[in-house]
Amino acid sequence: MSLPDSVRIVEVGPRDGLQNESKQVSPQVRAELVERLVFAGLKHIEVGSFVSPKWVPQMADSAKVLAALEDVPDVTYSVLVPNMHGMGNAVEAGAKEIAVFAAASETFSQRNTNCSIGESLERLSLVAAEAARHKIAVRGYVSCVLGCPYEGAVNPDMVASVAKQLDELGCFEISLGDTIGVGTPKAAERLIETVATDVPLDHLAVHFHDTYGQALPNTLVALQLGIATVDTSVGGLGGCPYAPGAAGNVATEEVAYMLSGMGITTGIDLERLLAAGDFIDGRLGRTRRSRVAEALRASANGGG
Ligand code: HMG
Ligand code: MG
Repeated sequence: MSLPDSVRIVEVGPRDGLQNESKQVSPQVRAELVERLVFAGLKHIEVGSFVSPKWVPQMADSAKVLAALEDVPDVTYSVLVPNMHGMGNAVEAGAKEIAVFAAASETFSQRNTNCSIGESLERLSLVAAEAARHKIAVRGYVSCVLGCPYEGAVNPDMVASVAKQLDELGCFEISLGDTIGVGTPKAAERLIETVATDVPLDHLAVHFHDTYGQALPNTLVALQLGIATVDTSVGGLGGCPYAPGAAGNVATEEVAYMLSGMGITTGIDLERLLAAGDFIDGRLGRTRRSRVAEALRASANGGG
């Protein structure tokens, strides 16, 4: 079994996680969550988005989150941007890295961004050119890579085509999003092998939502195929506002525990990560959705 020595974790809880939590939290709480994640060893954190606040109210004030964060050596804060309007706001807020997103399903593209896949890629080419002008790094997402909430099955060739176009726009990395968490390991394998014919493996990341509890096995398959970047969300926060019923991303705790047990470095301090999870759960009034966090807390309290 071939596996990487280290894995780059991209923590998306403060964006993908919080965007779907119904209880609104202040920019100060969002920034404190990010600071606690940095303290836990996370180096790549998506801290918010510059999308329409009418569409995703929780992400309003992402500029205030960025403004509250201090620069920390080797730590990158990124923000999600859908169009030139969002790009203008990201530049004004001093973002150094952005993430753009397109879908592999037409219906999801319409529901999520009010435009077709082709139109979204046109918008994103303008965003990428503007980012290049400001020397801002651009990461890309493809959504619905293993299934769409409206159209069902998604053809891996379609995912490869969208991923390739994002690669050609200059995205340094393309993250493959199983937005509704329906994929299983064989499908994930077929997907990654197909996309890798168009985009080099070292430009690919995986972004598994955990709706059906398949995110960990799918992550393992991705690692075995040569992918070494994994998106996760502390405490399994979130879901997707345009994918009804979708669960949050795979919990950072789950991935950190699995990789640590396999001798793969992530740089994460699990105890500090648990504290970050407790902090945001307390602010949201939600209960923990990470089995690793639950088990570690139970064993610390003398459970088995
Ligand atoms: P639209 O309504 O088609 O935009 O929304 P528009 O260009 O027609 O403008 C309508 C109004 O929105 C105007 O204001 C614009 O100024 C304003 P008005 O004149 O009515 O007062 N507007 C904006 N305001 C703030 N920021 C902006 C912006 N753009 C326009 N950037 C738009 C199009 C893309 C903006 C909208 O559909 C939107 O915000 N969508 C974002 C949806 C979203 O955030 N989804 C979740 C993130 S994606 C995700 O979670 C998947 C991922 O995790 C990977 C995976 O899991 O698969 C990444
Ligand atoms: Mg997502």
